[in-house]
Formats: sequence, C-alpha cells, structure tokens
Amino acid sequence: MTMQAIRGAAITFKADPFRHDWTEAVNHIPDALITIEDGVIVAVGPAAEGLATLGADVPVTHYPDAIICPGFIDAHVHYPQVQMIGAFGEQLLEWLEKYTFVAEQDFADAGHAETVAGVFLRELLRAGTTTAAVYCTVHPHSVDAFFAESSRFNTRMIAGKVMMDRNAPEALRDTVESGYHDSKALIEKWHGKGRQLYCITPRFAPSSSEAQLEAAGRLWREHPGTYVQSHLCENLGEVAWVRELFPERSSYIDVYDHAGLTGPRAIFGHAVHMDEEDFACCHRTGSALAHCPTSNLFLGSGLFKMFEAKRADRPVHVALGTDVGGGTSLSQLQSLNEAYKVAKLGGGTLTPAQGLYLATRGGAEALRLDDRIGSIEPGYEADLIVLDLKATPLMQFRQAYCRDLMETLFVLMTLGDDRAIRATYIAGAPVYDREREQQFIYP
Ligand code: GUN
Ligand code: ZN
Repeated sequence: MTMQAIRGAAITFKADPFRHDWTEAVNHIPDALITIEDGVIVAVGPAAEGLATLGADVPVTHYPDAIICPGFIDAHVHYPQVQMIGAFGEQLLEWLEKYTFVAEQDFADAGHAETVAGVFLRELLRAGTTTAAVYCTVHPHSVDAFFAESSRFNTRMIAGKVMMDRNAPEALRDTVESGYHDSKALIEKWHGKGRQLYCITPRFAPSSSEAQLEAAGRLWREHPGTYVQSHLCENLGEVAWVRELFPERSSYIDVYDHAGLTGPRAIFGHAVHMDEEDFACCHRTGSALAHCPTSNLFLGSGLFKMFEAKRADRPVHVALGTDVGGGTSLSQLQSLNEAYKVAKLGGGTLTPAQGLYLATRGGAEALRLDDRIGSIEPGYEADLIVLDLKATPLMQFRQAYCRDLMETLFVLMTLGDDRAIRATYIAGAPVYDREREQQFIYP
C-alpha cells in the first residue's frame, strides 16, 4: 500500500456547466489536499482539515501558484500523424492523399511505429492529456506499439487499428476479412489489459465498403465494452462524396447507423456539417461527438455548432479532440482557445467552465468513463495535472490582473499550452515533471 498527498488549489466538476450556473457546476477548493492510495484518490478536501488527519509519514507534494485538475481527455487524435502535423495548403481530401497516407505508409516498419508511439505518448503527457481515443494505422503492429508504450506509462488509453478497404493506397488497405480478424485479435490481446481499451476504427465511410462497415458493426456487437470511432461530416467535399457512395442512405450518419456503428461508446470526430436529424440520431443512440477546433480551422472544414449539439431538449455528448495531425496542437488548452473563437463566430460564448468541463468530466461522460476518470473525487483513478498559471512571462503578468477564478481560467485557456503543464500524474505516479532534469519517468 502506497499513500501520498498532493496539495494546491483544485478544480473539478459536480455538474454540466452547459446546464448549470458555474457556481453549481464547479467544485473549487482554493487550498486542497488530495490523498492518493495505490493509484486511486481516497480523500479530497481543504488542506487545513486533511493535513490534521494525515499520517506524519505520508509524503505531501505542494504546488503553490497552480491549479490541480483532472487530466485532460482528447477524444480524437491520430498518433501516426505527429510526423506531419502542420502540413501546408490543402483541405481534407487532398491533405489525406498528399500528406497523411504518405506518412502512414512509414508504419509498415514496426520499429518506426515504436519510435513514433514513444514520441506521441510523451507529447500527450507534456500537454496534460492522460486519456485519448487514438487512431493507429492499418498495420496491427502500430496498435501493439501504441498500447505497449501506454502500458509502460499505465495510461488509460482507447485505440484501434484503422480499417480501410478502398479509396486508399494499396499499401494501406485491408480487406473485409483481414480488417475483421486483425481487429478481433487486437481486441483479444489488448482490450481490458491493464488500463487499455480497444476501439474498432473504420477510418471514415469513403474508405470502407459497406461490407467492411457491417463487419465492424458485427465485431462491436460481439465485444461489448469496446469502442467505435470514425469521422463524420467534416468537410463539404467529403459529405458530397459519401452521398455519392451511399445513395441509398439518408445522410452521412445514417451510413454508420445502418451498419450498427452508433450507440454508447461510439465517437465521431468533427461533425461540422450536421443537420437536426443528424444530431437527433446522436442523441437517440447515445453516440458522442468529438469537437476538433484546431483541425476544423486549419483544414478549413467549418465551424462546429456546439450549442446546437448540447441543446437541452436533445443533448448530445460532446468531447474535445485535437485531431493531430489535422489539428495543430496536442494541448487541449489550445483546443479551447480555438473552441472559444469557433463558438463566437457561431454567435455563442463558450465559458471557461464549459471549456474545462469539455476537456475533463464532459469528455469522460462522452467516453462513458465518468465513473473512473475526469473528476477529483474519492474512488477515482488519480490521473491529475498541475496547471501553472504563470507558465510564461506574459501569463504571469496577465494573471495579476485577473479579478476572479473564471478570468484566471479563461486567460489560462487563451494563453496556455504545454508550457502550462507543471506536472502530470498517472494513477498517482508523477510520470512527467517539467522541472525535473529527467522529465518523464515510467511508474
Ligand atoms: N477523415 C478520414 N481520415 C482522416 C484523418 O486522418 N484526419 C482527418 N482530420 N479527417 C479524416
Ligand atoms: Zn481525425
């Protein structure tokens, strides 16, 4: 039994700030003591009370000038694409051909996959992301490389082998049979092993035949508790292409719904060009959407309708995704910086409480993991990050003029990025510490 405590200001959510005033939704403890035993939070409360009852031999790590919050959740990201993040000039379909499919072919080499998985995991931890829904490549060993690295850090990750049997280079194509069998073997190998969770990953409707989508749906039904992820209504050219490829379906999401690929634990990235029927389908089926603002802006895809998605009479689960390498940062603070601007252009105002909720508890709810991650409460896995409010000279100067907590948080998400992550804890273990010479440590 190992016990330790972390001390500092803490923020977690009690309720959804899209539905409740922030004072009801946010639990802010200005000086908190978070006690952790064997990777799980066992007590949270004011430090003055906690310290009085804490055993004298329990180590306490104190973070002044910081805010401790649940680790960020990235609901849509491609690890093989870290090598082509920031690729110039194209919209989605041309960008896939010119850069993405080229980069992903490098993963035929298992050693390359291992190297990139190592870089990616470290970048996630440096950005304060402790759980992500991750696309690997079509190669099964790309999944092995990713889960092996995630297991070493003991991170709770969701990932899967991309399935695509058409409209992609020969070297990146599987078949209905091999896509099904390779995915099934990976489920048996990795799903539920430690903290790893498998995600059945048909890339998007244009690159899977109807038979492959149906096989993916069958595989999902055969393995309850696994996930499904794909892309949805990202780009107007893509949406028109799906209409041509699936003329008998009433909409893009109907393609997935018809194949049995909607429901709780289905995560659809982007969802920019959605109409009311599409949102209603997500609500009815319990499917989640991953809002990927840096990507939607970078690739010129469009503006996600956050407040339409979250409409109180038929709410849809929304999480936040970076979509690297379509997205331009692995930092969810930077996603929120852009999400605020996207909301503004759509006539809405995303509050800092709503933003932080999307990156933590809201993401956990969308991924159906809100009983174990996304909150700082007893019984929860101790995936925590320490946010440095004064990470840069400008942040330090600007924070001095913040008049309340909401302003402080808003400036953090406007100016903050990976530099604002002071430390990252995975199941209680300090795996990343910005101030240490050796910044990353396997637990
Ligand atoms: N649609 C199909 N594949 C991809 C991808 O890799 N990135 C993005 N942003 N959209 C996609
Ligand atoms: Zn994507």
